[in-house]
Amino acid sequence: MQLKQELTSKINKIGVLTSGGDSPGMNAAVRAVVRSAEFHKIDSFGIYKGYEGLISDDIKKLNARSVKNIVNKGGTILKSARCHEFRTKEGRVKAKQTLDKYEIDSLVIIGGNGSLEGGKVFEEEHGIKVVGIPGTIDNDLAGTRCSLGYDTALNTAVEAIDKIRDTAISHNRLFFIEVMGKGSGHIALNAGIGAGAEEVLIPQKNMDLDRLLKSLKHSEKSGKSSSIIVVSEGKKIGDNVFKFSSYIEKNFPHYETRVSILGHIQRGGSPSCFDRVLASRMGVFAVDCLLENKSKIMTGIIGDKIVAVPIDEALKGGQDIDDDLVRVCDIISI
Ligand code: F6P
Repeated sequence: MQLKQELTSKINKIGVLTSGGDSPGMNAAVRAVVRSAEFHKIDSFGIYKGYEGLISDDIKKLNARSVKNIVNKGGTILKSARCHEFRTKEGRVKAKQTLDKYEIDSLVIIGGNGSLEGGKVFEEEHGIKVVGIPGTIDNDLAGTRCSLGYDTALNTAVEAIDKIRDTAISHNRLFFIEVMGKGSGHIALNAGIGAGAEEVLIPQKNMDLDRLLKSLKHSEKSGKSSSIIVVSEGKKIGDNVFKFSSYIEKNFPHYETRVSILGHIQRGGSPSCFDRVLASRMGVFAVDCLLENKSKIMTGIIGDKIVAVPIDEALKGGQDIDDDLVRVCDIISI
């Protein structure tokens, strides 16, 4: 009772949007936000195509039934985009005008670091209350042990690498497999361990050609006839993986080498149970935060507890790569 009275006095209407690269679990998070808002008797609005929809007034009122049957769906029913106009002051003024039209005073932004940065600036300039939910497969935000979609992406990557291993063994080939991560090696390291890769190359640690050469010589001596090397993507898709494969082709001409880029399949598909539960918890928590007048924060998970992390902290860069995990990877791939 106490909570409801406090809430209605603090926030008026909530807008929810998904922005940047989509990630499995975004729909489950949208569903949780909308249903939680309705539970607390607050109107919620879906903003389409991320910040683009704020600027172009692409907004629809939602209710508990508009988000039915989506908890299991990949992608995002709200669509997503990387909006260049929102990076400008003028774009953000237009966005504020749209929100004023609907009397929306709070936003839940589901997206990665670029999207949360945009939300932070928007709150600072226009006083809109912003709570972020980390929605990215890259797992590159600080203050949370994982972001939404990361677990599903890992499972997708492992399943794909398992299949490539079958053909690698049949043909005695050396496969370089690129996974996503945009400068963050979390998918590469974990999927590499999960799929039993011989080598995992991640930007934070070991992208060293000579080291790779040594390791392959060692594998050859120890009798390996096929190998899987998982490479984290660089600034552009294909950059790193082709650099490594060409170097090895030159130095090991007797190896039959192939490159496989997993790419966007890692962003699609039905979310894992873990991501659905995480999305539901974070969505409800995001609305709780707004009701308690907390903003410019991102929802995170530390241990098994959902926490509020200042967006500034979250943007300080991804979590460090766990050295123990790197050690495990080195030991079990001999
Ligand atoms: O940030 C998520 C991500 O999937 C990165 O891993 C990848 O580098 C990038 O997005 C790809 O973006 P786009 O969908 O624009 O090709």
